[in-house]
Amino acid sequence: TPTDPGLPPGMRFGAVAPNTEDALIVPDGYRQQVVIRWGDPVLPGAPEFDFENQTPQAQAQQFGFNNDFAGLIPVDGAPDRFYLVCNQEYTTEAMMFRDYREKKPTERQARVAMAAHGITVLEVQAGTGDGSLTPVIGRRNRRLTAASPFRMTGPAAGSDLVRTSADPDGRILLGTIANCSGGITPWGTMLSGEENFHNYFMNARAVAGSPAAERLARYGFGDDADYHRWGLYESRFDLAREPNEANRFGYIVEVDPHDPESVPLKHSALGRLKHESANIYVVPDGVDAGTVVAYTGDDERFEYIYKFVSSRKMRDGLSPQARRHNQRILAEGTLYVASFASAEPPTVTGATGSGRWHKLLTVDADGSATSHIAGMTPAEVAVFTRLAADRAGATKMDRPEDIEANPFTGKVYCALTNNDARGIDGNPGTDGVNPRTENKNGQILEITDAHAGTDFRWDLLLVCGDPAAADTYYGGYDKTRVSPISCPDNVAFDPHGNLWISTDGNALGSNDGLFAVALDGPRRGQTRQFLTVPRGAETCGPIITDRRVVVCVQHPGESDDATVDRPLSHWPDGGRSQPRPAVVAVWRNDNGPVGM
Ligand code: FEO
Ligand code: CA
Ligand code: CA
Ligand code: CA
Repeated sequence: TPTDPGLPPGMRFGAVAPNTEDALIVPDGYRQQVVIRWGDPVLPGAPEFDFENQTPQAQAQQFGFNNDFAGLIPVDGAPDRFYLVCNQEYTTEAMMFRDYREKKPTERQARVAMAAHGITVLEVQAGTGDGSLTPVIGRRNRRLTAASPFRMTGPAAGSDLVRTSADPDGRILLGTIANCSGGITPWGTMLSGEENFHNYFMNARAVAGSPAAERLARYGFGDDADYHRWGLYESRFDLAREPNEANRFGYIVEVDPHDPESVPLKHSALGRLKHESANIYVVPDGVDAGTVVAYTGDDERFEYIYKFVSSRKMRDGLSPQARRHNQRILAEGTLYVASFASAEPPTVTGATGSGRWHKLLTVDADGSATSHIAGMTPAEVAVFTRLAADRAGATKMDRPEDIEANPFTGKVYCALTNNDARGIDGNPGTDGVNPRTENKNGQILEITDAHAGTDFRWDLLLVCGDPAAADTYYGGYDKTRVSPISCPDNVAFDPHGNLWISTDGNALGSNDGLFAVALDGPRRGQTRQFLTVPRGAETCGPIITDRRVVVCVQHPGESDDATVDRPLSHWPDGGRSQPRPAVVAVWRNDNGPVGM
């Protein structure tokens, strides 16, 4: 138990020290439970996981690979029951199959991988005397994979850009892939960001000549990027045979877990980019009260931050009618991209400045669409959003990951995870919001936004890295009293208004973890590490509630070093087992409030 009486509520736990254990380490006085692992049954009748005998049919009924975002949505009329909604972002075939040959999957392996992608809706029973979450294998559960149908909304729906031989109308798209982070809407649905979709398409070289080749290049397509090689077995993943299929990924997806029969949505009005996530803020008062703002980042080096401001207003309540109305909100509105005025000279301490949102696309409440980019149609802006944003004068950022508004203050927090190419090899140099060359540790940006408007102020809350180094900044707080943090990825808020940050790729030599950060008062910028994940894993999907913390442990045992041919981890099953990505719940031994 920490003895520091000045710690803010929610941060009163014994900080976990940096370590390289092959275990998930929580503070003294807390316990943990694996809720569900890769391969565990999700649908009724699903077989138990059998690592040595995997089939696409089994995987499509089981929990997928590399869980990223997680959310808990209450089940109507069932106290202590929740839908655990969870992304399964990507597959690492070498970790999944004993006999995998690099970039040469067998058809069985490729189809298992397709089924291991997507989204899981899993009903869970919350423990009453503890923080546990127990899967309920019943009719409410759902697996969405690379083959599940989605309905497209917004200006791209029905356009020439998304028509294929299997879907000549360009409205029903098959599958969701590369689902990184996400968000929960106030109307009880899940949002999920399709991120690195360029890793799934072969034969980009075959699409020669402008503008198609230019468009593919702007999104990073190429034979080096296609490490899954699904196009060997399914023609839609071969750009030479189905050039528009790639235009059908890279969107924000919306899933209504309350209706297991509902067709989930892909919202093209939020643009096509490598969406980390989307998070909703509803304007609470004034003339814009009820207007919905969705923030989203494009996670790649030198990409942009976007927001969408709805044309419709949210309807209150969780009735089926309200939910139907609200699921049209992300189809109609204005998409903007951000530029940041630079502090001169760039500094890591107390940097602050102003910024502007630039219009890219508007869809009115009557459905009519307008492009704000000369020479591009509304559908083109929706599908080739990066090219539109290039022309709008947006600021090139250090990999925008999760971005989310604090529900208590409305201030928006964005994790800029790192950018090792900043300022070298002819790339853009530093500016106020991106103040370091070869940025290995990332920073946390705080935006004070006129949510429905076009102007904002910004601040750097954290410039991450070794607290002893001169080029780091912890909100002005005493750097000898913080937990070192590196490579922020996901952000969330606890019931006290503290920011929580999970990390991916800790460049300080220790395992990744989950941190609480004070935002206000004398402790602003103080970080405290709540948990660390096993070797090779990133921490993601954090949910922080009164009595429970939930995290996703993604890619345990994975190494960036190609010469390492054995997994770095045997978590969670131990012994000599293959590591398995999993969702973990953490609570206090006495079931008391977290961090109090
Ligand atoms: Fe999938 Fe941006 O991390
Ligand atoms: Ca991420
Ligand atoms: Ca988040
Ligand atoms: Ca990441």
